[in-house]
Amino acid sequence: MSDVRRTWGRYSSAFAAEGTAAETRDSIRRLIELCELPAGSSVLDVATGAGYNAFAFTRAGCRVIGSDPTHEMLLATRSGWRERGFDGDAPCVEAWAESLPFMDGSLDAVVSHRAPHQFADVNTFAREAARVVKAGGTVAIADQSPPDGYEGWHNDLERMRDPTHEHARSPHEWLEVFEGAGLTVAATDVVYQEHDVAEWFDRVDAAPERREQALEMLRTMPSEIADVYRYEQGRMRTPQCVMVARL
Ligand SMILES: C[S@@+](CC[C@H](N)C(=O)[O-])C[C@H]1O[C@@H](n2cnc3c(N)ncnc32)[C@H](O)[C@@H]1O
Repeated sequence: MSDVRRTWGRYSSAFAAEGTAAETRDSIRRLIELCELPAGSSVLDVATGAGYNAFAFTRAGCRVIGSDPTHEMLLATRSGWRERGFDGDAPCVEAWAESLPFMDGSLDAVVSHRAPHQFADVNTFAREAARVVKAGGTVAIADQSPPDGYEGWHNDLERMRDPTHEHARSPHEWLEVFEGAGLTVAATDVVYQEHDVAEWFDRVDAAPERREQALEMLRTMPSEIADVYRYEQGRMRTPQCVMVARL
């Protein structure tokens, strides 16, 4: 786990540099829409990184705490909070997704954006999230997600780019994770994040031979998923599952 902190500590300035555009991603917008949280709801944003999802939920009227195990990421969240003129200091806690330092039934919602594919144990995360929300509370994710049946191809591609990648789950796999934690899925959607492939490699400082092998996978992807990933002219799309469950 110290590798996670070392790796993400190194990436923190690249993530902080994404700026306010990162807050307006379709995956964050859809996560907020599908969560349907009333203003004033207490929300824990797990693996907040540089804080973009936490900032967007704050703008939507929620009282948000960001958590992340990587100290440098939380420093980026605190700077971003001040730069945006939100009140006081960013409420943050240094914590792993698999061990949330909150009382049972103490929060209205636990959310996580663009991060659960990095978690060492997503089933433990889901059980922890279910433990800390109130009865009827919300547990929700928006994360990169292969089409059902193409989990192996997607995860091989991501791991080629970034060896710390753990496992992105298809919608079918997320349903199993949530149900296994005693949650009931209330809403789900898939949105697409279009991005520049070279920048995607740069963000994690991918080694040249890894870039070349990942590009070869993109060039030779199965025809059934060509229209999902749409790799053309140096750009591609990554599918993102948005799933909202209630306790
Ligand atoms: C892609 S980054 C930031 C994602 C951020 N939520 C966003 O939307 O920009 C992923 C984050 O996951 C965190 N992370 C990795 N493994 C974790 C774990 N097991 N528990 C909690 N956070 C973890 C890293 O420290 C990193 O900040």
